[in-house]
Amino acid sequence: MQQARQLGIKESMIDRYMLVLLWVSQGNTGPFAFWLLFFLMKHPEAMTSVKGEVDKVLKEYGKEVLHGGPLINLTCDMLMKMPILDSAVEETLRLIAAPLLVRAVLQDMTFKMADGCEYHIRKGDRMAVFPYSAVHTDPEIHPDPHLFKYDCFLNPDRSRKTDFYKAGEKVRYYNMPFGAGVSMCPGRLFANNELKQFVFLMLVYFEFELKIPDEKISDTDVKRLGFGALHPIRDIQFRYRFRF
Ligand code: HEM
Repeated sequence: MQQARQLGIKESMIDRYMLVLLWVSQGNTGPFAFWLLFFLMKHPEAMTSVKGEVDKVLKEYGKEVLHGGPLINLTCDMLMKMPILDSAVEETLRLIAAPLLVRAVLQDMTFKMADGCEYHIRKGDRMAVFPYSAVHTDPEIHPDPHLFKYDCFLNPDRSRKTDFYKAGEKVRYYNMPFGAGVSMCPGRLFANNELKQFVFLMLVYFEFELKIPDEKISDTDVKRLGFGALHPIRDIQFRYRFRF
């Protein structure tokens, strides 16, 4: 705000800018935190693996969790040691992030598609890319694209999997929840850490279960396609209790 004022930007414009920042920083992370927890509840093998990783990290860092005791001091270093959770977060983003990426065309150009089609695009046009259907749910890149596979982004040696193929060729953009290029989300690392922190602490202190174990996961609100995180079409009820 200080910088905007120094630049002489009008107060009414600063207000709009702050509203945008409020939306971008809150609008997506909340729904994703919900979905991540939901997918873990829905897939017991994923829950067991992530919980196992949480407990391993707690032990490695000598953190003791006491009922009624002080909250554990979760550090960034601890979160960096969680490849399974990383993959579960990335898979949640793949399934639920449906933003429309809008770009202004700055010069005449020819846009070549993977299938050989070419499009001539004029300076001044606006283009939009919808990675949800072009990438995230392309069955060639992600087989059974609507299934949650918590280890989808994990190699057998637990390093991050980045090799995905389409028509035999390695795909550069295999997941684009945060967009791409110059206006790629600058909050992505922060958001990733928020999601990991949230799930880490939830799993340290609580046990969860869905009230309806075979709750359908395909029911998302299609009216939100293009905005970012999809929302469920109804409340999903779950039970939780202290682990300790
Ligand atoms: C899971 C959470 C989030 C998701 C999925 C997400 C996704 C996105 C997407 C798709 C874009 C547009 C990128 C493009 O046009 O290529 C964007 C832009 C942006 N995001 Fe995020 N975002 C998240 C969290 C955050 C957070 C926590 C912040 C700030 C603390 C933030 C700040 C921004 C800003 C400032 C822009 C505009 C960038 C620009 O136009 O140059 N985002 N985000």
